[in-house]
Amino acid sequence: MSWNKALIAFSTVAAAGLTLAVATGSSYGQNAGQNAAKSGSAKAAVGQASKSAPAPSPSQPASGTAASAGAPPGAAAGTTPTAQADTRPADVRHGEYLVKAAGCVGCHTVEGKGVAPFSGGRALKTDFGTFYGPNITPDKTAGIGAWTEDDFKRALREGVGRDGTHLYPAFPYPSFTKIADADVHDLWAYLQTVPASAQANKPHELKFPFSWRFLLVFWKWLFFTPGPDAAMASASAEVSRGAYLVNALAHCGECHTERNFFGAVKKDRQLAGTPGKDGAPNITPAKLKWSDGELKDFFSSGMTPDNDQVNDTMGEVITNTTSQLTAQDTAALIAYLKQVPAIESKK
Ligand code: HEC
Ligand code: HEC
Repeated sequence: MSWNKALIAFSTVAAAGLTLAVATGSSYGQNAGQNAAKSGSAKAAVGQASKSAPAPSPSQPASGTAASAGAPPGAAAGTTPTAQADTRPADVRHGEYLVKAAGCVGCHTVEGKGVAPFSGGRALKTDFGTFYGPNITPDKTAGIGAWTEDDFKRALREGVGRDGTHLYPAFPYPSFTKIADADVHDLWAYLQTVPASAQANKPHELKFPFSWRFLLVFWKWLFFTPGPDAAMASASAEVSRGAYLVNALAHCGECHTERNFFGAVKKDRQLAGTPGKDGAPNITPAKLKWSDGELKDFFSSGMTPDNDQVNDTMGEVITNTTSQLTAQDTAALIAYLKQVPAIESKK
C-alpha cells in the first residue's frame, strides 16, 4: 500500500490535535473520548450534516433515509438509522461469495496451514506502521461474537468499532461503506457460521502520532463520506455491477489509486496507479490495453499476456478474490474497467 508522505502531513494534523488538547486543557484520554462522542454533532455544526445522509441504496429505496434527512442536526449525522434489526432472510451462501469478493480473509488471517480463517493477527505493513487485522470470528471475547448486526453494519458503513472507537482506514471502509444493505446482511450471516477462534488480537504497532486513534476524527471529517454510491445509476446493469465490484466490494482503488498527503485516495486519480517501485499500476484505459480475454485470464490465473506471473500483492487479490468471481461478475468487472475515464500515468 502506498501511503507516501502521509506521515508528514498527518503530523500536521497531530500538531493541530495537540494544540487543541493543550488549548482545552484536557488530557489526551478525555479529549479522545470527547472527540469520539462528539464527532456526529461536530459535523453538523460545520454544516456538513447533509454529507452524511446516506444515498438511498438500490435494495432499500425509501426506508431509513427519510429518518436521517429529517432528524435534527447532529442527532443522526454520521449514523445510519439502525434501530430496527434487519429481518429479511439472509443468504449465507451469497454472504460467503461476498466475503470472497471483498477479500476479507486476506487481512484477517495469518498466512500458513491449519490457521483458523478470520482469526486475525495478519500483519499489514504501511508507512504508518504495522496494523494487525483483528479476529472477526464469532468468539464472544476474542472475536466479534458479542457484536450485533447493527454494530457490524456500523463498522463497514462508518468505520466505527463496537465501543464507538474510530477505525483506521487500513480497514477499507471508505470502499465498504458503499456495500448495499442487503449484502451487509448476508456478509454478517455468513460470518456467524465460521468457526469461533479464541486467538487474542494483537495491538497495532504504529508510529507516533498515528497511534493516536482520536486523530481519525479529523481524518474522517475531511475525507470520508459514508453511504452507498448512487453515481453509477445511469450506466448499464453490467457496468454498474462492475462499478460495485471494483469500488465497493473488491476495493481495487485502495491500492490502484494514489493517495494525498493525508493517506486519502485522490478522487481525480481513480485507478491511475500509485508511484514508487512497489506501486500498483495504472489500470485505466490510458495504460491497460489488454483484451477482454487477456484480462479474463489474468483475473483467473494471475498470468499476464507476456506470461509473467504477478507479485504477491496482486497475487493474493487474484487467489482470494478475482479468481473466485462468477463468469458474469468477471465480465462485469472487465466491462467497468474498459469504460472508466482514461487517466495518464504520472511521469
Ligand atoms: C486491507 C485489509 C482489510 C480487509 C480487506 C478487510 N479488513 Fe477488516 N479490518 C482490517 C484492519 C487493519 C482492522 C482494524 C482497524 C482498527 O483497529 O482500527 C479491521 C477491522 C475490522 C472490524 C472491526 C473489528 C474490531 O474488533 O473492532 C470488522 C468487523 C472487520 N474488519 C470486518 C471485515 C470484513 C467483513 C471484511 C470484508 C468485507 C474486512 N474486514 C476486510 C483490515 C481489513
Ligand atoms: C492489495 C493491493 C491491491 C489490490 C486490492 C488490487 N490490486 Fe491490482 N495490482 C496490485 C499490484 C501491486 C500490482 C502489480 C503487480 C505486479 O506488477 O506484479 C497489480 C496489478 C494489477 C493488474 C495488472 C496491470 C498491469 O499493467 O500489469 C491489473 C489488471 C489489476 N491489478 C487489477 C486489479 C483489480 C481489477 C483489482 C480489484 C479487483 C485490483 N487490481 C486490486 C495491487 C492491488
